[in-house]
Amino acid sequence: MKAFVLKAGGTSMDDIRMVELEKPQAGPGEILVRMHAASLNFRDLGIIVGKYFGGPVQKDTILTSDGAGEVEAVGEGVTRFKAGDRVAGTFFQGLADGPANPMVNPALGHSADGALTEYMVLKEGDAVMLPNNLSYEEGACLPCAALTAWHAMMEAGRPVAKGDTVLLLGTGGVSMFGLQFAKAVGAKAIITSSSDEKLARAQSLGADILINYKQHPDWEKEVRKLTDGKGVDCVVEVCGVGTISKSMECLGLGAKIGMIGVLAGPEGECNPRSLMMTGSAIHGIFVGNRRMFEEMNHAIEVHDIHPVIDKVFDFEDSLEAIGHFKSQAHLGKVVIRIG
Ligand SMILES: NC(=O)c1ccc[n+]([C@@H]2O[C@H](COP(=O)([O-])OP(=O)(O)OC[C@H]3O[C@@H](n4cnc5c(N)ncnc54)[C@H](OP(=O)(O)O)[C@@H]3O)[C@@H](O)[C@H]2O)c1
Repeated sequence: MKAFVLKAGGTSMDDIRMVELEKPQAGPGEILVRMHAASLNFRDLGIIVGKYFGGPVQKDTILTSDGAGEVEAVGEGVTRFKAGDRVAGTFFQGLADGPANPMVNPALGHSADGALTEYMVLKEGDAVMLPNNLSYEEGACLPCAALTAWHAMMEAGRPVAKGDTVLLLGTGGVSMFGLQFAKAVGAKAIITSSSDEKLARAQSLGADILINYKQHPDWEKEVRKLTDGKGVDCVVEVCGVGTISKSMECLGLGAKIGMIGVLAGPEGECNPRSLMMTGSAIHGIFVGNRRMFEEMNHAIEVHDIHPVIDKVFDFEDSLEAIGHFKSQAHLGKVVIRIG
């Protein structure tokens, strides 16, 4: 089988190779999945340059956490799946419920082999059924980006509900899922972006308030103004310490921030004063567990949500897909069709 592998110690795109590996077999309690699609996340870029948690990968590692495929065979004793089921692997392995512990729960595409491969073997507890309304390409978008947004909005603190206002930063994968979940429950969505064109696309997907953060470097003041001084109920904070002070300035009473990402770089100031003034909370979000994934998939089916896919690349063009994703020209998800 073919797979895209980052070699041990790799620190650049030059360290990625398409390799031929022996097709794996499902052992007891395992499933063999014929992969049909994978998708990219910001974290994959960090892994490739050796700057994700813990530094460069220590062994040759198949890239990407996110993928979807069809169960081709099941090993002895498997009860959760049968041949023909449409599945996705869970980001963390061995995490049916509760918080992730990276020392105990390997993560696909980093401490465990990932999804950019023709075949994958998973323990049956490390996979979920895809929502019935999604294609493989759409299902491949769910394990990291979608579940992270879902965790921040629906699991941590008070779930976002009808009438709430959610602030989403930028138009990447996590934020676009945040937009779709907000609209599904009847919440208002504010989106920031560096691009008016992307804002227009976000508006066509249901975004209610649009702010260009390049034109409005003090975008927190715009958020306050455009919410009639009330502020927001939830921030899906994908930018980190570079923006979190501004995000805190956007909070309404009893609001929450899901602390997720690092897009705005490693430096910044953070004064938590407005948490005190609004009775708000910051929740650390590390993707999510299998129970959350299954609950999210149920909601995706009920609300007939379809992931926003920017572009689909062929398997052989995976390096081009990574280059496109790195350029941040995308809105939503970049997908690789495996076959
Ligand atoms: N904690 C977790 O479990 C977890 C899980 C998933 C992701 N993450 C993190 O969440 C972040 C987002 O991941 P992703 O995969 O959704 O990223 P992505 O798809 O690569 O998002 C890229 C987009 O983010 C926006 N952006 C970049 N810098 C920005 C800034 N300074 N201010 C506002 N927007 C900015 C840009 O949108 P515009 O072009 O519209 O400006 C850019 O196109 C990353 O830091 C990732 O590591 C963490």
